[in-house]
Amino acid sequence: MTTNDPATPFDVTRTLPADATGAALRADVLHGLTRTPRTLPPKWFYDARGSELFDEITTLPEYYPTRAEREILLARAAEIAAACGARTLVELGSGSSDKTRHLLDALPDLAAYVPVDVSESALRGAATALLAERPGLGIHALVADFTRALVLPATPGPRLVAFLGGTIGNLLPEERTAFLAAVRGMLAPGDFFLLGTDLVKDEGVLVAAYDDAAGVTAAFNKNVLTVMNRELDADFDPDAFEHVAVWDARAEWIEMRLRSTRTQAVKIPAVDLALEFAAGEEVRTEVSAKFRRDGVTEELRSAGLELTHWWTDEAGRFALSLAAVAG
Ligand SMILES: C[S@@+](CC[C@H](N)C(=O)[O-])C[C@H]1O[C@@H](n2cnc3c(N)ncnc32)[C@H](O)[C@@H]1O
Repeated sequence: MTTNDPATPFDVTRTLPADATGAALRADVLHGLTRTPRTLPPKWFYDARGSELFDEITTLPEYYPTRAEREILLARAAEIAAACGARTLVELGSGSSDKTRHLLDALPDLAAYVPVDVSESALRGAATALLAERPGLGIHALVADFTRALVLPATPGPRLVAFLGGTIGNLLPEERTAFLAAVRGMLAPGDFFLLGTDLVKDEGVLVAAYDDAAGVTAAFNKNVLTVMNRELDADFDPDAFEHVAVWDARAEWIEMRLRSTRTQAVKIPAVDLALEFAAGEEVRTEVSAKFRRDGVTEELRSAGLELTHWWTDEAGRFALSLAAVAG
């Protein structure tokens, strides 16, 4: 369904059937909370409040990835634009589209910007702000899950597909393989893929980025409980769970978890679940994988993409990769 009323000077397309989000949440909760260890996919953090909390995280002193990626974009946007000459910029998991401005400003022939996100409120907020600054920009926002098949609008090529923020690290390795294959499927020869990846570094720096002193990441993590309370009539007590961030050195990822502070029973009527949590029992709510250049190059290559550029910030904390369709 596309809405394009005169008061909204951009398209917002929901490619999902009416109850798709609710059905997907119910399926993920049923599957994830009845297994050992319990897990939930991170996309459920991002209702309107979760999207606001994420934006707040990006401004925290401990959360270096946003500043590092912005530094690279500021330094390299012109090179990226020259290399790809994109007329359409598709951005997966675009959120506030804040850093995207640096790309938009560098692409002189851009005809269309296609932000894709599960958060409709984030998409609307971003599109409204961008249009206020750039009234001529053609924006076709897509409310969609980027792990599912996407139907992109027919806009002029060449296409640059961007996936910023290190969000790829939130996918498990097998999900990443499927995701990168789907990205390859969105690209024709002459199109490019721009990928932001956070890099392996000192454990103390990594853990602090996911466990800030002000407690914003803790509130973001617990927001998934509020989402389940609202959407599924559940009775989680967010105060009875604590935020945990740990570095898994073998998998090279940060895990965010919610730890039950006491023995407790929780009901989730919409999926007919009654759960018992032991004191100290955890739910994994997010992994955030950290990368090395060789691994990124190889994962792209396996998907039929060839790394053409690799840039890092001065401190070597974060990388942006540009990849072309392999010949
Ligand atoms: C870590 S934030 C990054 C936001 C922005 N790209 C940045 O660099 O600051 C992840 C974004 O992806 C969106 N997101 C998470 N999972 C998604 C999914 N499966 N499909 C579409 N969007 C998703 C969230 O709503 C959020 O806006």
